[in-house]
Amino acid sequence: MAFLQSVKLVFALLALTTPSWAVGVAPGQIKNFVTFGDSYTDSSYYPTADGGYAWPTWAAMYGDLNLYGFARSGATCSNLLTYRPFPPIMGWQLPAYLNETNNGTLELNPEETIYTIWIGTNDLGVNALLTGSDAPATSIVEVRQCAIDVLKILYESGARNFIMQNILPLDLTILYSNYSYPNTYWDLERNTTEWNVYMKELVRAGNEITSLMLDALVPTLPDAHIASFDSHGLFTDMYNNPQNYFNGTAPHNVTGCIHSCVYTVDSTAEPACTIANGTDADSFLWYDELHPSQQSDRIVAREITAVMTGESNQWATWLS
Ligand SMILES: *[C@@H]1O[C@H](CO)[C@@H](O)[C@H](O)[C@H]1NC(C)=O
Ligand SMILES: *[C@@H]1O[C@H](CO)[C@@H](O)[C@H](O)[C@H]1NC(C)=O
Ligand SMILES: *[C@@H]1O[C@H](CO)[C@@H](O)[C@H](O)[C@H]1NC(C)=O
Ligand SMILES: *[C@@H]1O[C@H](CO)[C@@H](O)[C@H](O)[C@H]1NC(C)=O
Ligand SMILES: *[C@@H]1O[C@H](CO)[C@@H](O)[C@H](O)[C@H]1NC(C)=O
Ligand SMILES: *[C@@H]1O[C@H](CO)[C@@H](O)[C@H](O)[C@H]1NC(C)=O
Ligand SMILES: *[C@@H]1O[C@H](CO)[C@@H](O)[C@H](O)[C@H]1NC(C)=O
Repeated sequence: MAFLQSVKLVFALLALTTPSWAVGVAPGQIKNFVTFGDSYTDSSYYPTADGGYAWPTWAAMYGDLNLYGFARSGATCSNLLTYRPFPPIMGWQLPAYLNETNNGTLELNPEETIYTIWIGTNDLGVNALLTGSDAPATSIVEVRQCAIDVLKILYESGARNFIMQNILPLDLTILYSNYSYPNTYWDLERNTTEWNVYMKELVRAGNEITSLMLDALVPTLPDAHIASFDSHGLFTDMYNNPQNYFNGTAPHNVTGCIHSCVYTVDSTAEPACTIANGTDADSFLWYDELHPSQQSDRIVAREITAVMTGESNQWATWLS
């Protein structure tokens, strides 16, 4: 017994002192996190597109971690693939991070730092893949390869710990639902059934492609620790089981949003807005027709914080 216990102790110590052998990060190891992504993650202004704080701001508080937020609203992975007039990861976020790292503005110990990548919302959506990219050779394949390339470039620059967040079920947002209405993101004529069906396919295929590409990448990155975070599963569970997540004073609401504005097709008429206030807001999955609510962001933050602080988490799989 004593011998077995010492063996166990030795292994436990090994796991603590040589994190590069173990899968995942150790409790207490991570002190900083660096984000790349779009409005779902943009913590650079307030109130954010989610109507409050972005999830990283909550995560920094929950986990007592230093946040370095490079994610920017409106971003796609690369404007060479899906052009939108916002700072993409490839053309701006990554260069900004690498510049700051190279010129000494940012000095982060790779052991103590984890990098999050959550991209796809705009790449897949209106004015991009859904309505036709302006780069004719672009498809869901290139767009997801790009997300993988971001991780690879970060690794090559010295980063070692990563969380790749997959795309949430965009077909469950109001913008891409089959019961959608003209809104701030799209007020032109369209077939909502077709959009809903197509978006569901893009998201499911995009996530599967990413997962297969990640599995192929992992063995080529020695000493890396890569977690795959299933945002799709988490948001699907929030949608199906709202009673487990939402604590506001209104009835649970996963099909409407806190800040709903109904436009008139092809018209400049003022939209008709319905706004949930105060403690009612925490009953909603969505803030507006495209963005998660503050309570959803707190849930994302709670789950991602658990991953960053080395706890096991049902939505995350450590691939290395
Ligand atoms: C990064 O540095 C290069 C060279 O100094 C500069 O041209 C570029 O604008 C910088 N990019 C960002 C996003 O700061
Ligand atoms: C370092 O790079 C960042 C991003 O390009 C830039 O904003 C900053 O001014 C640079 N700092 C120095 C000291 O060169
Ligand atoms: C939307 O799709 C769901 C599931 O396929 C279906 O039950 C529902 O009737 C559809 N609603 C509309 C407005 O088309
Ligand atoms: C919308 O698209 C669906 C699926 O392709 C089709 O069945 C339906 O007839 C279309 N509706 C209109 C109004 O064109
Ligand atoms: C959900 O919220 C919307 C407002 O966006 C409202 O119209 C709808 O009635 C609410 N649904 C439920 C089930 O409370
Ligand atoms: C929420 O507050 C806004 C602004 O004060 C008001 O216009 C709106 O009617 C309120 N919503 C509800 C459901 O009371
Ligand atoms: C709901 O729970 C979150 C913690 O997840 C808390 O911050 C928030 O204040 C709660 N909302 C209400 C209305 O009680």
